[in-house]
Amino acid sequence: MQIVRTIAEFKVLRSDWADQNLTVSLVPTMGALHAGHLSLLGPARMADRLVVSIFVNPTQFGPNEDLLHYPRPLEQDLSLLERNGVDAVFLPAASEIYPAGYRTLVAVDELSSRLCGVSRPSHFRGVATVVLKLFNIIQPQWAVFGQKDAQQTVILRRMVQDLNLDVEVIVQPIVREIDGLALSSRNQYLNVAERKAATILFRSLEFAQQALTQGESKTDVLVSGVRQLIGSEPLARLDYAEIVNAADLSPVEQVGDNALLALAVFIGKTRLIDNAFLGRNK
Ligand code: PAF
Repeated sequence: MQIVRTIAEFKVLRSDWADQNLTVSLVPTMGALHAGHLSLLGPARMADRLVVSIFVNPTQFGPNEDLLHYPRPLEQDLSLLERNGVDAVFLPAASEIYPAGYRTLVAVDELSSRLCGVSRPSHFRGVATVVLKLFNIIQPQWAVFGQKDAQQTVILRRMVQDLNLDVEVIVQPIVREIDGLALSSRNQYLNVAERKAATILFRSLEFAQQALTQGESKTDVLVSGVRQLIGSEPLARLDYAEIVNAADLSPVEQVGDNALLALAVFIGKTRLIDNAFLGRNK
């Protein structure tokens, strides 16, 4: 497995692969890898060469967020990727991606200001910027992301379409712990009591799915049930619970085809997100 730290070095490798007509897939990550990340490697293996990037992207963190404390278990991540047959890891320094004088950011309008964008107004601009840069540097035919970051996947698909990028975005299902908690690098911030309380996200998704099965399809009724349930957990504080169209994140009044229930909840100081499709999904 090759570890590449600079863009210049990656370009040499990439043109060598191009000379051999090899296809390339990319799994972008911020490291602190878990089974959710490993599940993204499966479809990425369809390419001749599989690249994983590890970069804790400063532009997607707000001023009071966890950039400095974000877990960086690099040795562990690299050995996991090596054991999982990754061909190259792109591991740039922040100054390589954002050199002094860097001034360009990518904004995907409207979609970026909904859901997580309300409490994290600059987050998706940072995500879109770094992912576009990674696409330009690595030039993958396929890029694989996780459904847990549902809004991110909608925004990146929009960016790919709007900017005519030659990359196919593939989205893989959420991977969960046995009690339903969605895997996340931030779960390691939780203490024992918080870890237990964090199942409230999955329980809320299950509650809404069950209510829908029993015939309740009004969004406001379902969301108010979810709010109540989250309110009943003393360690939880709701950021948002919304039911939206999964394709374009627009609000829906009635759950029909392609509805998505998306949640962000603080458990103690840790903000967790989760989501589930409701109804039939296209
Ligand atoms: O999903 C993530 O881990 C990040 O948002 C990504 C796509 C690697 C961009 O920094």
